[in-house]
Amino acid sequence: MNPAEIESTKSQAHAEIGACTDAGALKDIERKYLGKTGVLAGWLAQIPSLAPAERPQLGQAVNRLKKELSELLSARAGVLEKAAAERDAVSGSFDPTLPPPPVERGSLHPITVLTREIEDLFVSMGYQVADGPEIETDWNNFEALNIPPDHPARDSQDTFYLDGPGPLVLRTHTSPVQIRSLQRLSPPLRVIAPGKVFRHEATDASHEHTFHQLEGLVVDKHVSVANLIGSMKTLLRGIFRRDLEIRLRPGFFPFVEPGFELDARCPFCENGCSVCKHTRWVELLPCGLVHPNVLRACGVDPDEWSGFAFGLGLSRLTMLRFGINDVRLLLGGDLRFLEQF
Ligand code: FA5
Repeated sequence: MNPAEIESTKSQAHAEIGACTDAGALKDIERKYLGKTGVLAGWLAQIPSLAPAERPQLGQAVNRLKKELSELLSARAGVLEKAAAERDAVSGSFDPTLPPPPVERGSLHPITVLTREIEDLFVSMGYQVADGPEIETDWNNFEALNIPPDHPARDSQDTFYLDGPGPLVLRTHTSPVQIRSLQRLSPPLRVIAPGKVFRHEATDASHEHTFHQLEGLVVDKHVSVANLIGSMKTLLRGIFRRDLEIRLRPGFFPFVEPGFELDARCPFCENGCSVCKHTRWVELLPCGLVHPNVLRACGVDPDEWSGFAFGLGLSRLTMLRFGINDVRLLLGGDLRFLEQF
């Protein structure tokens, strides 16, 4: 490296930068001269091996050239960028006056929307929101709920059985949270428990293998069917935003006695429609008074305490509320469906 070499390199770099018409090629030129292993870095590395008298002069010359070339490179980059923008504007591919594309935002799943509304409603009535695992013990899911191993009620709730420390199942309903709540909290208690449940089902528009329920449990002194009906009416008023006539039909669930199916007047029609299958009633929730055996299984004295429980079909209620005609859409993961909420 000597002053003449520096001068000739400078002229060559000027020429290359001036002739460059492409941003990528300009980066290559920058690397060639100013990069970590570029020409100027090589020279600076040689400085310590020069005669002491030459060092300051050559060192300063190289640093001046470095500054000059970086200014030249960024000026040329600006020119190329402007030219590219003008080219785009002329060819019509970029219109800087257009607004930017909208930011895509996610939204809450309809089941989540309804769950949160129902939770708010029950919390305002003094209920706690409880949770339970989706993999349950056979005891919590069946036995403690008065469903022994050979009970025919197990047939309608077939599920996956898992190997574990004891028999485990994918829970078939949210009712095991009744057991967990009775064991964890001492009465009086008011609990709701929304969650996902699983069944071995032949699926169709109203049956899914994975769906949502919302359990409710109240245990107190002298709880009656009148308390149950009053609470269910409040629930329906909260969901449908008006009073709906209801009726109770007998229903069998081993963990309640008496047990009921609660139907409500169809919220969508006056004279029958496809939702109520032209009966003017929609089946909404099974419910009943907690069976003494369930209280006993959890160490609660049924002579002192009584209660009611209900098991809302949250997936089906979501369908009613949002006018969805196939339960399989809810967890199908199809964005065309989900983007509508
Ligand atoms: C039960 O699961 C009881 N644990 C409910 C209960 C709780 C009764 C407390 C009494 C006291 P059932 O199997 O009927 O009951 O299911 C409850 C609701 O879940 C049904 O009314 C229905 O809305 C919904 N459901 C049942 N099977 C399916 C399915 N395959 N797909 C979608 N929803 C379903």
